[in-house]
This record gives sequence, C-alpha cells and structure tokens, in this order.
Amino acid sequence: MDVWNRRSFLKAAASVTALAVLPRPLRAQPGASPGFVDVSLEAQQGWINVGGRGSYLYGFNGQVPGPVIEAKPGDHVRVRFRNRLQEATNLHYHGLHVSPSGNADNSFLEIPQGEDLTYDFDLPVSHLGGTFWYHPHMHGSVARQVARGLAGVFIVRGELDQIPEIANAAEPVLVLQDFDLTDSGLPVEPGLMERMLGREGGLVAANGQVNPQILIQRDGWIRLRILNASSSRFYRLRLEDHPLYLIAVDSGALPGPEAHDEILITPGERIEVMVRGARPDGSYRLLSLPYNRGGMGMGMMGSMGGSSSQTTVLATVVYEGQAARTWDLPQQLVRIDPLSSPTVRRSFQLGQGMGMGMGMMGGGGMNFSINGRAFNPNRVDTRVRLGSVEEWEFINATMMDHPMHVHTNPFQVVGSDGLPVRAWKDVVLVRANSRIRVRTEFREFAGKAMYHCHILDHEDLGMMGVLEIQA
Ligand code: C2O
Ligand code: CU
Ligand code: CU
Repeated sequence: MDVWNRRSFLKAAASVTALAVLPRPLRAQPGASPGFVDVSLEAQQGWINVGGRGSYLYGFNGQVPGPVIEAKPGDHVRVRFRNRLQEATNLHYHGLHVSPSGNADNSFLEIPQGEDLTYDFDLPVSHLGGTFWYHPHMHGSVARQVARGLAGVFIVRGELDQIPEIANAAEPVLVLQDFDLTDSGLPVEPGLMERMLGREGGLVAANGQVNPQILIQRDGWIRLRILNASSSRFYRLRLEDHPLYLIAVDSGALPGPEAHDEILITPGERIEVMVRGARPDGSYRLLSLPYNRGGMGMGMMGSMGGSSSQTTVLATVVYEGQAARTWDLPQQLVRIDPLSSPTVRRSFQLGQGMGMGMGMMGGGGMNFSINGRAFNPNRVDTRVRLGSVEEWEFINATMMDHPMHVHTNPFQVVGSDGLPVRAWKDVVLVRANSRIRVRTEFREFAGKAMYHCHILDHEDLGMMGVLEIQA
C-alpha cells in the first residue's frame, strides 16, 4: 500500500487543499433563549468555489455544502428559509424524528421562487443523538437541486457526547458530493438514461474540496462524521492502514464500536467512525473503492453507472503532532432497547417500470414505482397507526441497487437470523435481486410523510410512496 511520507506529501501538496474544516456551524442568534436554535438559510445560485475553482452551483448561504446546524434533544428549532433560486424548492430534515406536518418537516410544502418560509419544530427530549442532514425535497427536482450542492449537516448532540473517550476526540465532518460540470464550471444536466441509472458527476468533493486534509495526532483519536450527500454515487470507504471503528449509523449510536476495513455508504446514509493515530507519521488516503450498483439489466446501459470501476481519493489523513495522552475506546456505548413484535407486516415491491421487451426509449422507462404505482402526492399508499410496530419488507427484483429511506421514524434492519439489528437507521440498501426487512415503531407524530429510494433520480422518477400515520 503506498503510504506517502512527509516529503512526498509536501511535493504533492499543490493537489491537496486546506484542512477539512466545514464552515463555522450556525449558532443560535444572540438574544435567543437557551434551547432555541434559530438559523437563517438562503438557497441561491451563484459562483461557488468547489474543488478549487468557480462552479455555478446552488448553495445555502453561499456555501457548498451548507452550514452545519447543531441542536440538542428538547430544543426548539426555527429555520428561516429564503428561496432565492429561479425555481420552487423546500427543505427536508433527513432522519430527524420531528413532526412531518404544518411548518415542521413537511416535505409536501412548496416554496415558490423568491418566497420565504419559516420552519418550526421541536426535537423531542428523547431524540437520538446523531448526524442528520437537510436538503430540498421538491418532487421532480430533488436530484438536480441536491446535485447542484444543496445539502448540509444537522448534528443532534446525544449519548455519545457524554462518553469522554469519544467526546474528547477532534470531530471533523465530511460531506461527500459529486458534481458534473463543464470546463467552465457550469452544471451539466443528465439525459434520461443517466437519470434512470442515477446521475453521477466526475468531480468528487469532500466539503467542497478535492482531497482535503484531515489532521490527526499520533496516538490521538478523531471522530469522523461522514454524510453521503450525493444523488446516486455510492462510496465504499477504506482508510489506508487504519481500521474504521464504527460508532454510529444514520439515526444513532451503536451498542459498541465495530472495527471495519471497509464501509459502504449509500446516498442519504451517515456514519460516525473513530480513527486512531496508531501508525507511523505520514499521510494516509481515505479511498472510495470500486462498487457496482447495477444497471438497467440491458447490457450496454449497465456500464453507464460510472462509479463501479474506479478508486477515488476522498481526503487524506495527515499526522501532525503527538497526543498528550492516549486511551482506548469503551466496549459499550449505548443501550438500544428491542422493539416489540410487529403487529402488521407489509411488503413493498420496487419497480423500474421497464418490462423486458419494452422499447428502451418507451415511456415505461420513466415509471419508477413502488407496488406498481409511481408517486402521487395526493394519494396515501400506506396507512399506519400511531404507536404501532410494523415490519416492512422491501423487495428488489430489479438489476439495480436501491437504498430505501423512510421519513419521521428510524427503523432497525432485521438480520439474517430474523432478529432486528440493534442500530437505528433510516436508509437501508436493498441490493439488486434481494429483499430486506425493517422494523419500526411509529412514535409521537401523526401526519403524512414519505418513503422512497434515495437515489434521488429514482425518487424524482416515482419510486416514492406516501405514508400516513394516524392518531
Ligand atoms: Cu433524504 Cu426523503 O429524503
Ligand atoms: Cu428523509
Ligand atoms: Cu433506486
């Protein structure tokens, strides 16, 4: 494995941009009471520096990715949102367990161009700590708006922040995005075939930078929060010579750290990993290894995905300095109570609406669906009872992977032994030609929400359903 030494690293420094620090987190505005997070976000198109050059993208407050918002369980959150795009948009607070109604996390809202909307919601006192995020959810435009840069991290402090061995570590945040830009920095709109596969861009950025540095002290630890904010690209992560100690996924912490050589992170997913500075001083690349997420099952088109055959360098972990002391990770992190047995079981058949024998260019190609139906915001597909526990099976008989996501309540994935895995997730990868079950309890909030594939082109093309939680 080619580890760079400091000398060769300095030579290569021109291709490595500054430290991977995200823009300063937004904070409660002066005068706001404790427990009240009050932030302003403005979506606007403009020239934004991505990968070291001007790109004509969409930013929140002029930044790609958007600013980090930080809150605690029990906080009231207010987001004063201004739409300065030339098109309608809205915001979704991905993974937050908050009300899906009114002016809370309501993905049915549409904010016309030039208009404002103030989002208001309460984080329950029992909310899980974790790495969440915000992004537009304007049906039909989600992939384009997110792929142009609209995504930001929303951190909820929680159980892990009470554990000194974790809380004392430096805490870099990495937002992974990919962009398809012309030489002059203008965004390229994909054609229908690319949308069906899920658009990918050749410019892969972490915090808007190509291969930024992440500093680590020898014998020290970092707690790395990683968000896959790409429309479609999967990242199969490996850090040269370092195990990744997974401590949290999507919506919350794990019962104990798990050492991994590689972790696959699909669109919408988040992980928190601990990395120990236990190797010789030097630079170690955080790589995304080849992964094949399948195709339309039509030979030639299957090769259009783009991410399957290349290794990409996402960032470089650079040793600098020596930690004053070192420590081990505790073997126990949090307790996750089991869900009670499900009273209702449902299945969801994912469809690409492109039957064999249908013409490639036929209208059927547009019809991504769940249980045979494409998304219709005016129809309720699934009615559930508030307080009930259900088991859902996602059945993927297509030739392409579909990472499925459910709003409002996290779930536990059912393992091969039939028991739920103790981890709260809100996106689950349903690989091509496979099926997977998840269990969830509909807690606290009634209202209408959505479930969908988080390959955002698939969502836009109709692979989304409406869930109504009835009190
Ligand atoms: Cu991150 Cu409905 O999405
Ligand atoms: Cu979501
Ligand atoms: Cu999909």
